[in-house]
Amino acid sequence: MSKVSVITVDGPSGAGKGTLSHLLADTLDWHFLDSGALYRVTGQACVMEGVSWEDAPAVAEVARHLQVEFFTDANGEVRVVYKGTDVSREIRTEEGGRGASTVAAIPAVREALLQRQREFLQPPGLVADGRDMGTVVFPDAPLKIFLTASSEERAQRRYRQLLEKGENVSLPRLLEDIEERDARDSSRSVSPLVPAEDAFVIDSSHMPIVDVFAAVMAAAREKGLA
Ligand code: DC
Repeated sequence: MSKVSVITVDGPSGAGKGTLSHLLADTLDWHFLDSGALYRVTGQACVMEGVSWEDAPAVAEVARHLQVEFFTDANGEVRVVYKGTDVSREIRTEEGGRGASTVAAIPAVREALLQRQREFLQPPGLVADGRDMGTVVFPDAPLKIFLTASSEERAQRRYRQLLEKGENVSLPRLLEDIEERDARDSSRSVSPLVPAEDAFVIDSSHMPIVDVFAAVMAAAREKGLA
């Protein structure tokens, strides 16, 4: 595999991976891979193509031919476009998350998206956010982070985010969804959500993201990456 530097950030939904990964990519001026977005777009593409998330061969076919583009708009927001349609909002809903988690459990879908994810590895470096970045996609990464937090804390964070967006949600329902998704992501037969053996595991339940970021930057400096 290439010698371009990569920092992998894996862990369950809502642990703060996205915030940490963006901070790292901005500070280091590296590229950023939001691998979850690829699974989310695959789920959304199935809805648009009339393919059931349960129909594994058809979903894999959608993943193999996924025509997706990412670009940053004038407000600095990342827009996700599938076959010319902006699906940025749809893929971020709770339903979008359920679709992503369901299609991500299909081995042929993961296989179809593997090479596409590796193509993000470009100089000067890459911060890769996901579930299997350190175990499967970039196993040679010099720095692997596994960021976790209790399911209650992650549900609270998601609840506050959705309230800020003006969405009407129930905290017990969110907790149930998170636990269901964790179980599906951790128990699937391919690329289950587990820390790499050489991962730096951080529990952010009682740790502000600035402290998590400082700890990861210290580890990156120690490895000569920053
Ligand atoms: O990070 P996220 O919440 O956008 O991910 C959505 C779903 O996609 C999540 O439930 C698990 C799946 N996923 C995965 O299986 N492997 C990845 N590398 C990234 C996400």
